[in-house]
Amino acid sequence: MTRASLPLEFAPRLIEWQRRAGRSGLPWQHTRDPYRVWLSEVMLQQTQVGTVLSYFPRFLERFPDVKALAQALPDDVMAMWSGLGYYSRARNLHRCAQVVMSEHAGVFPETAAVLQTLPGIGASTAAAIAAFCHGERVSILDGNVRRVLSRLLAFEGDLAQAGPQRELWNIAQALLPVAPSPDDMTAYTQGLMDLGATVCQRSRPACAICPVQSLCRAHAAGEVQRFPVKTRRLVRRFERWWLLVLRTPPTSGSARVWLERRPAPGIWAGLYCPPVFAAEDALLGVLPEGLRAAVHALPTVTHSLTHRELHLHPMLLEVPPGSFEPSADHAQWVAADALGGHGLPTPVRLLLASLV
Ligand code: ADE
Repeated sequence: MTRASLPLEFAPRLIEWQRRAGRSGLPWQHTRDPYRVWLSEVMLQQTQVGTVLSYFPRFLERFPDVKALAQALPDDVMAMWSGLGYYSRARNLHRCAQVVMSEHAGVFPETAAVLQTLPGIGASTAAAIAAFCHGERVSILDGNVRRVLSRLLAFEGDLAQAGPQRELWNIAQALLPVAPSPDDMTAYTQGLMDLGATVCQRSRPACAICPVQSLCRAHAAGEVQRFPVKTRRLVRRFERWWLLVLRTPPTSGSARVWLERRPAPGIWAGLYCPPVFAAEDALLGVLPEGLRAAVHALPTVTHSLTHRELHLHPMLLEVPPGSFEPSADHAQWVAADALGGHGLPTPVRLLLASLV
């Protein structure tokens, strides 16, 4: 697609609309501090704005700058991330802070090209940081923006394939505003995000209020829902886990539960969880014979991850303090009132909240 065949009115209209009607009160806007922008962009990679709104200020209060984050203990970073999901983001965030300290003298690189070399910063996140903080003329291209642009251009390429993805990236670059000021780049980048999130939604897009409706080729053809074109469908593997939930009786003070730190690499690496077994027999096999009959099966909990559907079978066993501990590395008794300070996967946090 040549530049001449692109709707070059797109950028000025989007900028005007963002300034007039876009989001303006989010706590990571109106700053050019790369630490804040980077943190918010990583949180927003796979998490809704509504959830990030509560995590972002708490994380900043605990780790106010890149140095504080770099020096933190991994467990403390995981605890602050607990509940946001996609935990490799938290591990990369921590590593990235350490690399910024050790290799960039504590200052984030300014260009998208160099930002992309850091852990956990892909091309789109690098572009967002460079555009918001330094006004670099570079386009973001996350899932929302792919949807907006593929509709705008009625782009027939299959976005499950690398070739069409690259082509759309080139188009995104060609659509950027001409000779933008840093403020223009901020409004344009935020405008792309706002349009994707609040108007050009995946199902039921609000075309009637879209500022670029008259430029949109999918809309003109009455085919908005056909875009983006993507053939590969996500297949989730079904997996069952048996969780050994050991709890002390809540007689004196608060009950305690036995939690292990999950190994890396793997699901929930670095988070705390009751011991996991692939089969019920394997779980019962680690218990002394006299305790097996006291195990009580709790209702199954299902939890979807990107590539897995987990069916969790919690098996509760009450044991007096000191009577039994499975052998394990990185495992400990955790008191009910100390669970908040531990990084726990959301279904485990919910399960334990109902038990202790
Ligand atoms: N999604 C990704 N980045 C965002 C941002 N800066 N504001 C709102 N939503 C976003």
